[in-house]
Amino acid sequence: MSFACAKRMDVLGTETAFEVLAKAKALERQGKEIVHLEIGEPDFDTPKNIKDAAVKAMHSGYTHYTPAAGIPELREAIADYVSKTRKIDVVPDEVVVTPGAKPIIFFSILAYVNPGEEVMYVNPGFPIYESVINFIGAKAIPIPLLEERDFRLDPNFVRDHLARKTKMIILNSPENPTGGVLTKDDLKAIADSIANRSDVLVLADEIYSRIIYEGKHESIASLSGMKEKTIILDGYSKTYAMTGWRLGYGVMRKDFAPKITQLMINCNSCTSAFTQVAGIEALKGPQDAAEKMVAEFKKRREVIVSGLNSIKGLSCKKPHGAFYVFPNINRTGMKGRELQELLLNKAGVATLSGTSFGKLGEGYLRLSFANSVENIKKALSRISEMLENQ
Ligand SMILES: Cc1ncc(COP(=O)(O)O)c(C=O)c1O
Repeated sequence: MSFACAKRMDVLGTETAFEVLAKAKALERQGKEIVHLEIGEPDFDTPKNIKDAAVKAMHSGYTHYTPAAGIPELREAIADYVSKTRKIDVVPDEVVVTPGAKPIIFFSILAYVNPGEEVMYVNPGFPIYESVINFIGAKAIPIPLLEERDFRLDPNFVRDHLARKTKMIILNSPENPTGGVLTKDDLKAIADSIANRSDVLVLADEIYSRIIYEGKHESIASLSGMKEKTIILDGYSKTYAMTGWRLGYGVMRKDFAPKITQLMINCNSCTSAFTQVAGIEALKGPQDAAEKMVAEFKKRREVIVSGLNSIKGLSCKKPHGAFYVFPNINRTGMKGRELQELLLNKAGVATLSGTSFGKLGEGYLRLSFANSVENIKKALSRISEMLENQ
């Protein structure tokens, strides 16, 4: 008897953050104390007003199926929010609510790209982009993010690699894992390069749009002529510390939204009802908890960047958004995976090799600063001690 999986599973990738977390937990069960800097989620609790709204919704009957694209009041609240923040006119029919923002990546590629067509995506980047592109049999074209440009891409690369078969360009700003933030000029140059293409969609992953430390978030959808060519991905996981709630959304062309909704019907039926009601409160209620969280991240950013820069063999750019640092480790003489393992097993610090985010991440580590200053300082002194003694 053989239960060999379908061939397509051979090319599906994963997120190694979950594997490192499992290894770290196993070490903890053996009595080792680990500082967790591998995880991509805020360490704060979901604000109370949002939790209260969910509990109230549960008691008032929001415990059944909802329309597949989301309850109308939430789609309206999201349309208002995106209209205001991106300075474009969004209507509820252009919004599809999903369990977390991740399905928007899967559904958009699945619905729009044929096998053999090309998708450009940022690298190092969120590993799910490359995974899904490969899974559907498309060709993955990595766009390098450059340390010398503060981990922004070079728009000329996009222009020069556009092909007849290019169907989609995946951008992520602020970026995971580098903290890079695209400027309006970068976005304009990308938009210009596809000005004559009516078949290329941009998937703009803006999940970290509210976690930004300098300047303001710019969306490619705000540029003239780009709203119709852009799928905005955004959600609640990072902004409101709601990773476990699973609530996100995509904003897209009115003729594309029913396709994504059809995929929702096939996969999930709908997003959890009371979670959706909480999502209205999150957008319309007080924003001070979300803002406080960003202020706290900003303080931690100073501690971790200056700490890493004082450690032998490491150099670290200051990220402009998200809550990750991406130090260059070349001077340690080690590969990312080797240093990741050593730090976990010898120093008790869980980090991720840059290669967890694609092959262009070699030579870097990703550390999350969604942890207390005390724990960050502890991790820094352990890393320093280990590298000094190498
Ligand atoms: C760049 C990026 N996009 C999308 C997601 C998915 O977010 P969610 O938890 O809402 O599915 C993440 C989560 O880590 C992310 O880092």
